[in-house]
Amino acid sequence: MLLEIKDVSKSYKSRYGRTIREVLTGASLAVGDGERIAITGPSGSGKTTLLNLAGTLDFPDKGEILFRGNSLSGIDTAGLAAFRNREVGFVFQFHHLLPQLTLWENVLIPALPLNGNMKEVYKRAEELLRETGLWDIRHQKPGELSGGECQRTAVVRALINQPSLLLADEPTGSLDDRNATMLTKLLTTLSARENTAMVVVTHAGGVAAEMDKIYSLKEGRLTENHQ
Ligand SMILES: Nc1ncnc2c1ncn2[C@@H]1O[C@H](COP(=O)(O)OP(=O)(O)O)[C@@H](O)[C@H]1O
Ligand SMILES: [Mg+2]
Repeated sequence: MLLEIKDVSKSYKSRYGRTIREVLTGASLAVGDGERIAITGPSGSGKTTLLNLAGTLDFPDKGEILFRGNSLSGIDTAGLAAFRNREVGFVFQFHHLLPQLTLWENVLIPALPLNGNMKEVYKRAEELLRETGLWDIRHQKPGELSGGECQRTAVVRALINQPSLLLADEPTGSLDDRNATMLTKLLTTLSARENTAMVVVTHAGGVAAEMDKIYSLKEGRLTENHQ
């Protein structure tokens, strides 16, 4: 299994340690290599919290998260940063591209700390940018691009290091229908070709329908929807 979330609980606490909100109360999820999973649930149900735990941006109070069978707890900060950079790609509702950099520079950033062969990286960036229809505008900055173009750039940035897992939090939430469809197609095509597993949080039925499995997050737990 690529990712196993096992019986995970998570509460948010006040400064004084009093629990304000029990968000996850024993959530479990298993994601295989290349598997695509949608997570739906009402606003405030803990979807973002769950993705943050899966991506080691936050840690559970109880339960365990395993990546290729190894626990993610007990890894030091530097180890976690390296893990995230190599193995995980993140896409959010808003693109979070750096406004002062061009699109080309933005997509290369995650590759810089790996000290790999930059020639290879440039080649991969070019392929992905051509494939996503962004090559001709690569020298422009995010402020000069449409929402759909920025979000496609964010997908290329997330995939540049060939992660084994892509975590997407309402990736089409800021897009119109046409751009949402284009982005969904892009995510499914690239994940299939590169065998990248995906966990996508979404309110959009059209996005969820393209995934292998759909789970609902309710009362702090995940249940699979069987149509
Ligand atoms: N850092 C935080 N501190 C306190 N409460 C939080 C924090 N982050 C989220 N919450 C609360 O936890 C609940 C779940 O949030 P979230 O995971 O963002 O839900 P969703 O993404 O499904 O809308 C919400 O009630 C939210 O207000
Ligand atoms: Mg959220």
